[in-house]
Order: sequence, then C-alpha cells, then structure tokens
Amino acid sequence: MATFTIKGNQFMYNGEPIRILSGAMHYFRIVPEYWKDRLLKLKACGFNAVETYVAWNVHEPKEGQFNFQGIADIEHFIQLAGDLGLHVIVRPSPYICAEWEFGGLPAWLLKDPSMQLRCYYQPYLSKIDAYFDELLPRLKPYLCTNGGPVIAMQIENEYGSYGNDKEYLIYLKEAMIQRDMNVLLFTSDGYDDSNIQGGTLIPDVLATVNFGSRPEEAFAKLQEYQLDKPLFCMEYWNGWFDHWGDEHHEREYDDVVDVLDRMLKLDASVNFYMFHGGTNFGFYNGANFLGKYEPTATSYDYHALLNESGDITDKYIAVRELISKYVDIPDIEMPSPIRKKHYGNIRLTEQSRLFDSLNLLSSPIKSKYPVSMEQLDQDYGFILYTTQISGPRAKNKIVLQHVHDRALIFIDGVYQGVVERNTHDQTVEIKENDILAEIPPEGATLSILVENMGRINYGYGLKDPKGITEGVRFERMFLYDWTIHTLPLDDLSKLNFGERQADNSYTPTFYKGVFNVDETGDTFLKLEGWTKGVAYINGYNLGRYWDIGPQKTLYVPGPLLREGENEIIIFELHGTRDPVVTFQDFAELG
Ligand code: GLA
Repeated sequence: MATFTIKGNQFMYNGEPIRILSGAMHYFRIVPEYWKDRLLKLKACGFNAVETYVAWNVHEPKEGQFNFQGIADIEHFIQLAGDLGLHVIVRPSPYICAEWEFGGLPAWLLKDPSMQLRCYYQPYLSKIDAYFDELLPRLKPYLCTNGGPVIAMQIENEYGSYGNDKEYLIYLKEAMIQRDMNVLLFTSDGYDDSNIQGGTLIPDVLATVNFGSRPEEAFAKLQEYQLDKPLFCMEYWNGWFDHWGDEHHEREYDDVVDVLDRMLKLDASVNFYMFHGGTNFGFYNGANFLGKYEPTATSYDYHALLNESGDITDKYIAVRELISKYVDIPDIEMPSPIRKKHYGNIRLTEQSRLFDSLNLLSSPIKSKYPVSMEQLDQDYGFILYTTQISGPRAKNKIVLQHVHDRALIFIDGVYQGVVERNTHDQTVEIKENDILAEIPPEGATLSILVENMGRINYGYGLKDPKGITEGVRFERMFLYDWTIHTLPLDDLSKLNFGERQADNSYTPTFYKGVFNVDETGDTFLKLEGWTKGVAYINGYNLGRYWDIGPQKTLYVPGPLLREGENEIIIFELHGTRDPVVTFQDFAELG
C-alpha cells in the first residue's frame, strides 16, 4: 500500500516529497512485445512515471463486448511498468482526444442520431457507466492504495476546450470514486481563462495544464485559479503530429530542453507528451476539424524522445542530460537495439478486384436512401453505395450530400473521379472539379465507394458520422433505391485471389504477395508508385498510406513478421500497373 497525496504545493509519496517526471506512451499504439523495451528506455532516461490514456473504442469495440487482450491488455502494461519501479498515471477519461479515432469514443455511440457527447446526457452517461463497470475493477488492484503503481487518474480531457458542463465533470468524478478509484484525481486543460473555467473542478479536483512553451506564463495563469497546489504540466508537447497532405513536424531538442529546464526550476512536475508516440495502426487515426477536415497520418512518431520504432534520439540524450542535473539517473542496462531489416523489393503477383469480391466481403443491404456506416453497425473502413439511373440524361453533376470523407465515383464500373469532403460543393452550379455524368439511353449503374478517413477527435466537429450522411443527387434530383455494402476490411481471408492480369482500369484492387524472412526485425514498407490505400502484413492492418505524404513509409514492427513465409496484401483504391513494394531499413516520415 502506498499513498500519493498533496501537501501544500508538494506532491507526497508515502509522506515524502516527490516530483513526477513522467513520459506518455499509449499501449494501444505499440505492439505488446515492445512495451517493456519502451518502458526500460523511459526509466533509463531518468523518468519516474509513465502516463497512458485508455482508449474506450479499443476496449469496447462493439457495445457490451469488451476486449482486454493483446494490444488492449492494459493490466499487463501497468504491471510491466510497476515491475520496473515506475509510477503510472492513467487517463481513462473516457474521451481522450490524442489524435485517436473519435477521441477514443466508440463509433457505435453515433448509431443514435440524437446522442449528445461529453455532457450530462443520460444515454451517454449510461454507456460510460457500463464501460467503467468493466474497466475500473480491472484497474483497482493496480492503484497505489492497493499496493500497485497507479498514483493518479484523469476525469476528463481538456474539457474546457469543448464545453462548460460542470455537472458532467462531477458525474465522471463520482463515477470513479464510486468504483473505488481512491487515488489522486485531476483534470488537464489549456491554460487560458476560458479553458480553465470550463474544464476544471477547482478546488475539489487538482487542475493541471498542457502546453509546449512559455511555462512561466502557463503556471502563473493556473495559479490565478489554484494557488498552493503543486504545479503539473500534464502534457508537455515536445513534438507534434502530422496530417496527411501537410508538412512533417519536428521540434529541436535545445528548445525542448530549455522549456523543460524552466519548468524544473519552478519545481513543477511534468509529463512529456509524447515520450514515445507509436503508430495509428488499422483505422484508428483521428482527424482535426476547425473549418477544414484534416485526417492524422498513420505514424504517430510525434518527433518524441523515442522515435516511432522505439529508438533513442538526440532529444532523448539531451533530455536525459538535463534530468541528470536534477535527479540521479538509475544505472540500468539498456535493452539491445532492435534490428532494422532491409528485405528489398517484393512483387505482388496475385490480385482480386474489389468489384469482383463484394459478396465475399459483405452481404448487400437494400435501402431506399443512403445511410451512414453507423446506422449499419459499421465502425471503420469503406462503404459502397450502388444505384441505377435511367437514361438518357444530358451531362450533369453528381452531388453527394454529404460525403465523410472521400468518395470514388464509378459509372458502369468505370472510374469517374474523386469527391473529397473539403472540396465538395453541393450546389447545382457546376464547378471545375465536380464529377459530371452523362447517362446513356439504357441507363447506368452508379457506384460510390466512400472511405472513412478517421473521425474527428477534437473540438466542435466531434460528432462525425461516416459514409453518405444525407443523400445523393443527380443535379437537383435525389436518387433512391440503393444497394449498400459495408466494407470494414477487418477480415480479408475470404478473398479469392487470382494471378495478376495486366489491368488499366485503375479500380480498387487487393494485391497479394509472399516473401521469405530469415531473420525478423523491424522494417519500413515503402509504397513508391502507389496512390492511396491500406496495407496488411500477415493479416495485421498496418494502417493507411497516401502518396500526398508527408509520410512515405509504414512502420512494420518485427513481431508482426515470422521466420519463413509472410504475406502482404495491399488494398489500393486507384489500382496500380506495377505492384511492387519495398521493405527498407529506415523510416521516411517527411
Ligand atoms: C491536447 C490533447 C491531447 C493531444 C494533444 C496534441 O493536449 O489533450 O490528447 O491531442 O493536444 O497532440
């Protein structure tokens, strides 16, 4: 049993003053085989704590069905940290932001169109209660008050940047207390007046602040609201994330060390966001929306102290040096570096076109009008809407009202173009990048393949249903009588692959290849000449790739490979003439 408490402006661990030097890493962004490696490196850098969010959508993928296995085995992650003598801070908010799909909320919440999120709305709260009934009893034995490593828990995440419902915050706090979470509870927010007023429960709950620079200003503002409590930067943004189609972010270590030094001089505690960012495997990347939809890339390298593949960086070394001026760095043996492997070029010799495989992947659903994924109990992936249009009709505009997030349009199976959420114009006036169709006398089949590119994880656009949310028009006329295929692409084992045929149709296609590995190690999948899609290694979804960058390679952790034969499947939306991929021994993130 141990206690972690506050005495004046000090944190106390078992009655002794303690400063928390913590680093964030998210177990759900790292293959479990590497958890220990990353935690050891954290400890060897002089940190005394690890912080992780808990992603609700990972643990309750379908309502009432819970998963705490493999990459979702949070208990094992906490246990490993505890075994290494690290304290653990847990943020089971249940909203986490984190550039994670829907900020960690499960997509099935959106099946109810009247759902209200992040406020005191009983249907929302009852779903949280059901989740907490599963999650929190699992965490209970790991609390410091029960002899475990968990010293503190967050009740909501930067709530002040979203809403001002105190009743909701109090409900979450009580929900934790009622389930015996008798450790220090806290909130964390941006440091301006509005954020602090909206997001905190001062004086009952410790308020912490998040920032990347100007620590004196941030803490001074916090102290206007909360004097005589310890200072804690819950998210020290020492790097940043990338959006598709945008620049790659890096932050120099001298600047990072300078801001850290200033925080430590103020006697503050700090949590590095991130110590190690990891990867948005599968379809779990989030997106931002402040007027424009911006999906987050697959890599969550974050230019953090450990890079995406867990290697020590210059920043790590510089931060360790500074920390060593404040605390004794434990003399522990570093894990040996993980081998990086170059497996060379692999030709994908088999293929299966999406339009030939539909009924192997999904059962068609008839619907009068297009409905969103959530209405069909689909969370992630793609969705195909098909209908007939009678002819003849003169050339006119196909309007998607609205598309979330990117659609490929086909007439009689022939690719017409792409409609993206940001550039999409739903008026009837014809603009340059509109998709126009001319319908022959015998009529035509219209097919619309929509990709869910990740739900918004931050701000007022949080409620972000996917697919086509209202209807499809030919000019002004709404089109009815649709066939819909949900394509979550979570199981490709039923696909029928055949030998690759020369194909110039550029339609969505699965390409498959096999390659042999003598010695497994980390590698990086480069998709030169490919356009946009998803890559799978031995059935594991590595995430999305897109030639607009900035990311040019996908991280393949060694544990996903096996000695001997391995299988790679690429789902390429735009088809390719030359299906060759490269496994190289270095990352290219931009
Ligand atoms: C905020 C959120 C985090 C993350 C960072 C940016 O601080 O609380 O979850 O989204 O921004 O990386």
